[in-house]
Amino acid sequence: MLHNVIILLFIYFQAGNMNHEKVMLHDSDLIRPGKPWMDVDNRPINAHGGGFLIHEDTVWWYGEIKDGETWEPESIREWNGSRVEAKGINCYWSVDLINWKLAGNVLKAIEHDSAHDLHSSKVLERPKVIFNDKTGKFVMWLHIDSQDYSYSRAGVAISDSPRGPFKYIESIRPNGQMSRDQTLFKDDDGRAYHIYASEENMTMHVSRLSDDYLSPSGEYKRIFIDRHREAPAFFKHDGKYFAITSGCTGWDPNPAEYAVTDDIMGEWKVMGDPCIGDTRGTTFDSQGTYVLPFSGKYIFMADRWQRLDLENSTYVWLPMEIENDKIHIKWYDQWSLNQ
Ligand code: DGJ
Repeated sequence: MLHNVIILLFIYFQAGNMNHEKVMLHDSDLIRPGKPWMDVDNRPINAHGGGFLIHEDTVWWYGEIKDGETWEPESIREWNGSRVEAKGINCYWSVDLINWKLAGNVLKAIEHDSAHDLHSSKVLERPKVIFNDKTGKFVMWLHIDSQDYSYSRAGVAISDSPRGPFKYIESIRPNGQMSRDQTLFKDDDGRAYHIYASEENMTMHVSRLSDDYLSPSGEYKRIFIDRHREAPAFFKHDGKYFAITSGCTGWDPNPAEYAVTDDIMGEWKVMGDPCIGDTRGTTFDSQGTYVLPFSGKYIFMADRWQRLDLENSTYVWLPMEIENDKIHIKWYDQWSLNQ
């Protein structure tokens, strides 16, 4: 109880730019997977395909802004594709994972230059941010694509602060390869890895980043060859590396699959579906985006996409059980970080 009061006071006083009259702190510590989630200003949290960064006791959530009308462009109708106009990348912060305050749109889409990577006609997806201890910079990588997903590149941006703004540098095809769904993983030794669906989504690559995290180091490993995986979420537990991925079915959900290894650049062992009781084989109607270690738990974070109404997509966060090299994810209508 005292702990919760301290956290709420911390949020109240830390947010120097808060409009205190509008702030609505959540009255419980329950996470309700798949349900609409309001920020502390009572607006729906808008940060999809999210990435999370814990920095100095604050959790930062970066995600795609999905706002406005969803439409089905002719060029991607064949695989049931749909999209909204790109607006940029939202950033929220929290100290308890329940109450989130919007820091702002930290990488804004561009209106005038239709050739620019960040033009509103483009695809800006799955942003992830890591902190570089040597340079003191926050580095974001994200999926940059054309409306028909043929551009398949990774964009990189940099900031002095976790709350942005991020300065866009460029997009590349890492190691000369296609890059679509992607994530970052920073290891205990400070080395960081960019993991992306490549080769027309047939094979994933684990690419070690340069020391400043701004470019590929040139060393990379092809994993899950011909397995057709996307939506990578990588984490480490007890010295083992874990990967949770989805199949490739557009915005529609499919069964997750996980894999484990002792060497992130070595051979991976595919273990199967981590979900228990997911009778429809849909990862509980969601697609993974991140795994966050927090408060002694490992949280599987996923998106419940609404294909024809993307702005009303919600978030599915579930606690995972990890035993040696096995992961189990079970459904909870609601759960608490303190349970
Ligand atoms: C599946 C990917 O995981 C999403 O990030 C997004 O690119 C959709 N496909 C688009 O249909």
